[in-house]
Amino acid sequence: MLTADQISKFHDDGYIVLADFKSADELATLKARALEIAADHDWEAQKTIFTTDREKRNLANAANAYFIESATTVKCFFEEKAFDEAGELVQPLEQSINKIGHAMHDLDPVFKAFSTGAKLNELATDLGMVMPQVWQSMYIFKQPRIGGEVGWHQDGSFFYTEPLSVITFWFAVDDATLENGCLWVEPLGHKGPLRERYTLSGEFPKMIEVDPTPWPDTGTAIPLEVKAGTLICFKGTLPHYSAANTSDQARHATTLHVTDGTADYVKENWIQRGADFPVRGFID
Ligand code: FE2
Repeated sequence: MLTADQISKFHDDGYIVLADFKSADELATLKARALEIAADHDWEAQKTIFTTDREKRNLANAANAYFIESATTVKCFFEEKAFDEAGELVQPLEQSINKIGHAMHDLDPVFKAFSTGAKLNELATDLGMVMPQVWQSMYIFKQPRIGGEVGWHQDGSFFYTEPLSVITFWFAVDDATLENGCLWVEPLGHKGPLRERYTLSGEFPKMIEVDPTPWPDTGTAIPLEVKAGTLICFKGTLPHYSAANTSDQARHATTLHVTDGTADYVKENWIQRGADFPVRGFID
């Protein structure tokens, strides 16, 4: 699927941008399903907010217990600015959910159809994967006006293998622009160390620093503005972030996190699968 030049550029740059990977029909079907899941969410009963704040992520609280439950289920998380002081939604429900995660690719037929198949498998093979294993799916709404920022991080922190093997598959469902919170990456940042590991032992997770290298200055980052249907694949050590969405346009995206089954997926990773719910590849 990829040319030799594209493959070497992926390894040199730490990422690759593939325009027109998904059709308008595939995107519309997935978006409709995501909006349906959001609309079905019982928001008065479950108001957990998704945050990338490192201190909040390490709290032994109900929000983090709910997050851990989502490893093998399908859960909705709210934007930080979704609720007013009285706990009422500021915008309609479908414009308040931050993301859906994290096992739709196995549990929801529409997401499964989007997230599997020979084309993705061939791409993963071209990117160097011997045995792709898809641990997680997310549907990220980056809602108009209240879509929260996601600070600098590396996805290898969440899917640690020895050697490191995770590749993120990031699909633009809407056009991603400077205004609505496109991805930003650090040029050549994938050549640096993994700085943190998100680990789980017991009921609650912890983000632990493993290397003191500071996060890059945002002044050195480059934006990846892409059209809907584009797939961006990037390495687990590539630092990336996305800004808040202050525009009136949503920036929906959906992601898959994939490791290579030939590497050792450690037992401290927050998502684990057993024989009753095994991790799968793109074509099993
Ligand atoms: Fe990420």
